[in-house]
Amino acid sequence: MNITIVGTGYVGLVTGTALAEMGNSVFCVDIDEKKVEGMKNGVVPIYEPGLEEMFLRNIQANRLHFTTNLKEALEKSEVIFLALPTPPGEDGSADLSYVLKVANDIGDLLTDYKVIVNKSTVPVGTADLVRETIAAKTEVAFDVVSNPEFLREGFAVEDCMNPSRVIIGTSSDKAKGIMAKLYQPFTNIGVPIINMDERSSELTKYAANSFLAVKITFMNEIANFCEKVGADVDLVRLGMGSDDRIGHRFLFPGIGYGGSCFPKDVKALLNSGRHEGYEFQLLDATESVNKNQKVILVPEMEQYFGGSLQGKKIAVWGLAFKANTDDIREASSLDNISLLLEKGAEVVAYDNIAEANVRKIFGDKITYAKDMYAALDHADALLIATEWPEFKNPNFTLMAEKMNNKAIFDGRNMFPLELAEQHHFYYKSIGRKLVK
Ligand SMILES: NC(=O)c1ccc[n+]([C@@H]2O[C@H](COP(=O)([O-])OP(=O)(O)OC[C@H]3O[C@@H](n4cnc5c(N)ncnc54)[C@H](O)[C@@H]3O)[C@@H](O)[C@H]2O)c1
Repeated sequence: MNITIVGTGYVGLVTGTALAEMGNSVFCVDIDEKKVEGMKNGVVPIYEPGLEEMFLRNIQANRLHFTTNLKEALEKSEVIFLALPTPPGEDGSADLSYVLKVANDIGDLLTDYKVIVNKSTVPVGTADLVRETIAAKTEVAFDVVSNPEFLREGFAVEDCMNPSRVIIGTSSDKAKGIMAKLYQPFTNIGVPIINMDERSSELTKYAANSFLAVKITFMNEIANFCEKVGADVDLVRLGMGSDDRIGHRFLFPGIGYGGSCFPKDVKALLNSGRHEGYEFQLLDATESVNKNQKVILVPEMEQYFGGSLQGKKIAVWGLAFKANTDDIREASSLDNISLLLEKGAEVVAYDNIAEANVRKIFGDKITYAKDMYAALDHADALLIATEWPEFKNPNFTLMAEKMNNKAIFDGRNMFPLELAEQHHFYYKSIGRKLVK
């Protein structure tokens, strides 16, 4: 099949590459000329494990193409995916201007039947809006499908190639048939295609992400309470997770959720609720608990240093919102660095993959270390903000040699408590005993 993907970010590029891998001809459209030029020259604009190899293979096979020209791509394609940003507006609602702008352009350019598939995370009713926007511009027949994306950054290639389910929201049998054919190579190993109406499909995505945000936040509250009552959250989570109604995943406490999806999707669902006169109390609480949780270790650091962080040199390991990505959108590291700077601390950060993106925000307000141990030179404390695997088993002897104080504030519970005890570190993690 010939396919256009409009928006070549984390979702669009990975989806486009996966569809090319399955033998389709894919035309990736983006307005970012520099990005398109780079991709034409074989440069992958994002960090995503396993992507580069597949990307280059499909360019070489002449199945993956890049352009800034929507018209050129549209003419060649039967199915048009929209993988455009839907960032939060000032009131938290999803900003649909990117999606509606492209819908408008498609309306101007349509010459024959196409299926317009929305992969962006959008509020209920957006498929109708897209349909109305296009129909206002053309008499040509088309269908609109809601096909929410569930890939996880860091595992995006794996998730795209092996989806847990494919949700197709459309009232058109013709479009349903085309979508089933398109997804057949991904679903023929027994992956369910769940057909539904557009509105249910659009809500499914928000419901799934909000549920996961609530699950993480619930566990963070249990962890905070563990500290109050002398329980160990690692044991509690094992005990809880063994119940298969609960499961072990998403029970790891830490310094809050971030990223480009959970915060914005919780906000957008809250906003949609308000718009309909419905108050999502659980989501309201989730958002405010998460906001506090992100910086919960800063007062702990202050207390450790006798009330002030003025002039303290804090090393920060990990800047990405989670491991295996360069994405720093709403990352907890950013909230912590801002607060540390505000309190007069000096910050030395280490994250080889996400550093370039953080430089765009903090510039030379902080310094950047070339490796994890270099960040510790004369550091007064270490804050761990991302669970990169390389932090899991560090050389504690070397760390002790480099640091002014043997103090670790671990926002991702990277080490067993015994390890910190053995090496005589002050070790504050989340929901577990303080080691001192
Ligand atoms: N990132 C994720 O993990 C993830 C997962 C599931 C769903 N989503 C949803 O998918 C959507 C896209 O997210 P993303 O993270 O890939 O975004 P992104 O910001 O990484 O990429 C969006 C791309 O769209 C391009 N763009 C903007 N306007 C354009 C236009 N008029 N024409 C062509 N290109 C245009 C931008 O230049 C950018 O390259 C969002 O709605 C998001 O909520 C994201």
